[in-house]
Amino acid sequence: MALGDLSKDPVYVKLLAYWKENGSKLDMRDLFQKDAERFKKFSLELELPDPDGGSPLLLDYSKNLVNEEILKLLLDLAKSRKVEERRDEMYAAGRINTTENRAVLHIALRTRADDTPINLDGKNIIPDVTRVLNQMEQFCNDVIGGKWVGYSGKKITDVVNIGIGGSDLGPCMVCEALTQYRVGPKAHFVSNVDESHLTDVLSSVCPETTLFIIASKTFTTQETIANAQSARKWFLEKAKDESAISKHFVALSTNLVKVKEFGIETSFEFWDYVGGRYSLWSAIGLSIALQSGFTNFRKMLDGARFIDQSFKSSPLEKNVPAILALLGVWYNSVLGYESHAILPYDQFLSKLPAYLQQADMESNGKSTTLSGARITDYNTGPVIWGQAGTNGQHAFYQLLHQGTRNVPADFIGFVQKSESVPGITHHSILLANLIAQPEALMIGRTPPDSVAQELRPHKFFSGNRPTNMILARKLTPFTLGALIAIYEHKIFVQGTIWNVNSFDQWGVELGKELAKAIEPELTGTSKGTHDGSTQGIIEFILKHK
Ligand code: F6P
Repeated sequence: MALGDLSKDPVYVKLLAYWKENGSKLDMRDLFQKDAERFKKFSLELELPDPDGGSPLLLDYSKNLVNEEILKLLLDLAKSRKVEERRDEMYAAGRINTTENRAVLHIALRTRADDTPINLDGKNIIPDVTRVLNQMEQFCNDVIGGKWVGYSGKKITDVVNIGIGGSDLGPCMVCEALTQYRVGPKAHFVSNVDESHLTDVLSSVCPETTLFIIASKTFTTQETIANAQSARKWFLEKAKDESAISKHFVALSTNLVKVKEFGIETSFEFWDYVGGRYSLWSAIGLSIALQSGFTNFRKMLDGARFIDQSFKSSPLEKNVPAILALLGVWYNSVLGYESHAILPYDQFLSKLPAYLQQADMESNGKSTTLSGARITDYNTGPVIWGQAGTNGQHAFYQLLHQGTRNVPADFIGFVQKSESVPGITHHSILLANLIAQPEALMIGRTPPDSVAQELRPHKFFSGNRPTNMILARKLTPFTLGALIAIYEHKIFVQGTIWNVNSFDQWGVELGKELAKAIEPELTGTSKGTHDGSTQGIIEFILKHK
């Protein structure tokens, strides 16, 4: 389905003209003043069927630089960019990842065995998904229940996931988010090829009771293979028995040939229609299922499945991922804002900004359209960043409130605290901060007359700075699954509007290739030709190592 150039899309042109003409007059404070119903009109509620307790999820997007006219134009833009058609194509297993000739079916990973078939090349893929989920369930029960033990007969107490990018960030983020749901071994994560990462984790685990999970879609990623080989060496130095490997190393991959070559017997498969950054729902989530138990892993899949159905069936104006996406397009591509902050007010979600950074920036950090044209006249994916509140408040919120840049932000919080140590009840302080920050960003402040004249400009807050609020009852596996899926579909809608392929990542290849060529130069086994700066750096290292 070929789309024309966004910059020539008549609706986009109208949005640009609208902003040019009315942008300076658009003041959220006036909009609230003039419309008592604004919160109601510009918010959505989803009733999440969470088995851990009924859970409404609120998206309040009333604190945005939009009015009804703009929203209508944005919804028109979604129509004119064929968002619904492309969504249906994705759900119908169309090969929408055109540069890799692959379907994009992370939604299939969240299905249940009896769901409507998803046929890829004439074959329903749900039975394969179910088979691997069953295999994961059995394995988790065996490890947690003590049937699968280490080489000396001891129960597995720790798992070390060795992977990077999508084979690390999702499971790592979720394991921390579901800390309070832990029923199995403690999950640790090693991603960086910097040996400090591996040695640090290894120093905290015991070989007899540790299971290594080698997580790599391709099983060729340099960092992961280097870490996996070193972990194997460390393990054998302690175990002194090659046959013990099979009890302590399992693999998660689409490349079962390479897994075998590496010498791992137990593997959990997934498929090329699962992008790395969309893979935590697949076998890549094994560390989650081991730490939190398979039941909780399934609840997380169910939360995402609920959003998959809602995204597919809700009209765009009531569609949470679509609304978030359209607001992002408004800021990025019409107003020219450069970044977007993710601000979870829950310590257990502290890795969510890093996770969404990969999900969003690797997906939509592109400047080539699906038909191969260069994008020069509108912004695509923003810089995604953030930190858990309230820590961020004491770091970068100064810029959010008074900087020269406008940074749209998503505030994310939970009405109830999952579980705290008895007697410790800070939650109302956390919630008060979560509510106060978007309020302050919008209302701003003109200092009262009592403030000294020379200080007045410094104590002035312009306000009118846009934010979303995503609020759910409690951070449960189901709610977390729903939240992540909302962002996945938001990214999809934006990529569709920008006409980029959100599912490839060619931009990471060049650096990888050059690093492979440079490494032997650092050991003196080869000599390359580089620009003056790169050559100078290499020579500096060779001189001082
Ligand atoms: O950074 C590029 C990338 O290909 C990501 O997309 C992926 O998540 C990561 O590397 C790890 O890849 P693999 O799972 O194949 O080791």
